[in-house]
Amino acid sequence: MLKQKRKEQQKDYDKQEKRLKEMKAHGKSSKQAEKKAKEALTRKQEKGQKKGAMEPEDNEPVELLKKPKEYVVKFTFPDPPPLNPPILGLHSSVKFGYPGQPLLFKSVDFGIDLSSRIAIVGPNGVGKTTFLKLLMGEIEPIEGEMRKNHRLRVGMYSQHSADQLDLEESPVEYLQRLFNLNYQDARKTLGRFGLVSYAHTIRIKDLSGGQKSRVAFADLSCREPDVLIMDEPTNNLDIESIDALADAMNAYQGGVIIVSHDARLILETECQLWVVEDQTINEIDGDFDDYKREVLESLGEEVMQGNKP
Ligand SMILES: Nc1ncnc2c1ncn2[C@@H]1O[C@H](COP(=O)(O)OP(=O)(O)OP(=O)(O)O)[C@@H](O)[C@H]1O
Ligand SMILES: [Mg+2]
Repeated sequence: MLKQKRKEQQKDYDKQEKRLKEMKAHGKSSKQAEKKAKEALTRKQEKGQKKGAMEPEDNEPVELLKKPKEYVVKFTFPDPPPLNPPILGLHSSVKFGYPGQPLLFKSVDFGIDLSSRIAIVGPNGVGKTTFLKLLMGEIEPIEGEMRKNHRLRVGMYSQHSADQLDLEESPVEYLQRLFNLNYQDARKTLGRFGLVSYAHTIRIKDLSGGQKSRVAFADLSCREPDVLIMDEPTNNLDIESIDALADAMNAYQGGVIIVSHDARLILETECQLWVVEDQTINEIDGDFDDYKREVLESLGEEVMQGNKP
């Protein structure tokens, strides 16, 4: 609905600009053209009032339509320098299970490069987060190994990383300390990630969950990663921010791996779909569009069921 509304606003604005241009082309001054456009707007409003669509407002001065704002939030991740493959992967039949538990993975081989766009899906508890931890080298496989380019910088985002920002420092102080930013640049970065300005200077531990997530995304962006690994990044984000994240991922030139239950994010970012199942991870072949749709639709259902009180 938001998208539809934005589209209509843009259409009205484009129409107005086109008319202004035409009138000017026909020898009218800017002032005359604007006056005409305002008259047209007034007529439109009066028409609306007659239909009862609007409350009558006396002598309300008519203003020309302003250019509709695109996004208030604009996530960005700086583009990485070129790196030679192999970039990052699990090799030689990786096997893993937590001590005293059944195996989660056996004989996994998986690798990415800087152009990879991968979305990992699968039901709760199947091992998606564990898979990311193996890739990050946070846990060691029982057999096989993780290999990565020694110059590779991996940026990790998860709900956990956001929650861990439980600090006495303010977001501005935090970014300044970690990345040697000046005050203005720290605030600008936080603003871009949609953190309201009054929250820039209060203690991070007092921020809401969604606000902490924004600080974590700003932090991630400042690390200038070559590869982004994100575990359920949309959990705390509103619609505008999810769109902003999708745009940022599309513009970003590095590798991306996300674990997500969000079918829209996966579609918007045109990620290859990989499924964790049968103690391994399999790519869903692009040729199997029906299967892909089926998997995404089942995600949609899962999300809906999860939202029920
Ligand atoms: N540190 C740990 N020690 C022991 N068992 C663990 C540990 N972490 C996860 N597990 C178990 O391993 C299995 C896989 O967990 P994991 O967090 O990887 O699942 P997931 O696919 O990310 O699930 P979700 O969609 O709910 O996030 C689960 O059964 C979980 O209970
Ligand atoms: Mg998980």
